[in-house]
Amino acid sequence: MSNAAISQAVEAIRSATTITVLTGAGMSAESGVPTFRDVQTGLWAKYDPMTLATPEAWEDDPALVWAWYQRRRAMLQAVEPNDGHRAVAEWASTADVRVVTQNVDDLHERAGSTDVVNVHGSLFACRCDTCGRHHEVEAREPDGERVDPPACECGGRVRPGVVWFGEMLPQNAFAEATARAEACDVFLLVGTSGVVYPAAGLPHIARGAGATIIEINPQETDLSDACDITVRATAATALPEIVSALR
Ligand code: APR
Repeated sequence: MSNAAISQAVEAIRSATTITVLTGAGMSAESGVPTFRDVQTGLWAKYDPMTLATPEAWEDDPALVWAWYQRRRAMLQAVEPNDGHRAVAEWASTADVRVVTQNVDDLHERAGSTDVVNVHGSLFACRCDTCGRHHEVEAREPDGERVDPPACECGGRVRPGVVWFGEMLPQNAFAEATARAEACDVFLLVGTSGVVYPAAGLPHIARGAGATIIEINPQETDLSDACDITVRATAATALPEIVSALR
């Protein structure tokens, strides 16, 4: 890739001590992770994900919501981290690179990243909807469109550990994400449209604290104007190139 923006990004990163990487759906696109809408095929086509991913849907029809999340977990098991995830993990072994993700998949972790902050929770971190206790759940393709969620010892139901529309972000995770935005010299945005707050406010926090803001995204986004450097390339091409130039 002959890209002046990549060279500028490398130069800015070379003079940084701490780098915070904020990733969104575009980070996992090249792994083939279906987006929210792509997941709606077959018997799910008649359901709107915007209404399934809500506390109201869980109250009304927990078996429907649980089956839908079981399907998403099963789909995720069939994909692999891409070169972008791997580059971020490798980079963190030689530099102070801190990852914050809006994705509810586990691809950063599977690529080898440790200490990832999941501001929108995780498909795999299930918990009781009543007592909050953590539950390990096997990802299995559901047989139909309704599967009863497992029961907790307290009598509550086990729910997906993701942030639903209308819910607050996990407080500790968002506090840590904010701290990572404040502490970095370079804030690298990868594959996020920057329309969902409060996560989309993190680059502004970083900028206010004096960081250089770099965006990797093939498309312009709502955050592009606030960036110092914009790399118009995909995550799985730009990140390995940047990380190899830093070696
Ligand atoms: N590499 C980098 N960026 C990409 C790639 C790629 N291969 N493919 C697509 N993109 C970019 C798109 O141009 C877009 O700007 O990824 C971005 C994806 O935007 P969204 O789908 O809005 O995803 P995200 O920003 O993560 O959404 C935030 O909204 O749906 C909710 O809670 C969900 O966490 C999610 C939040």
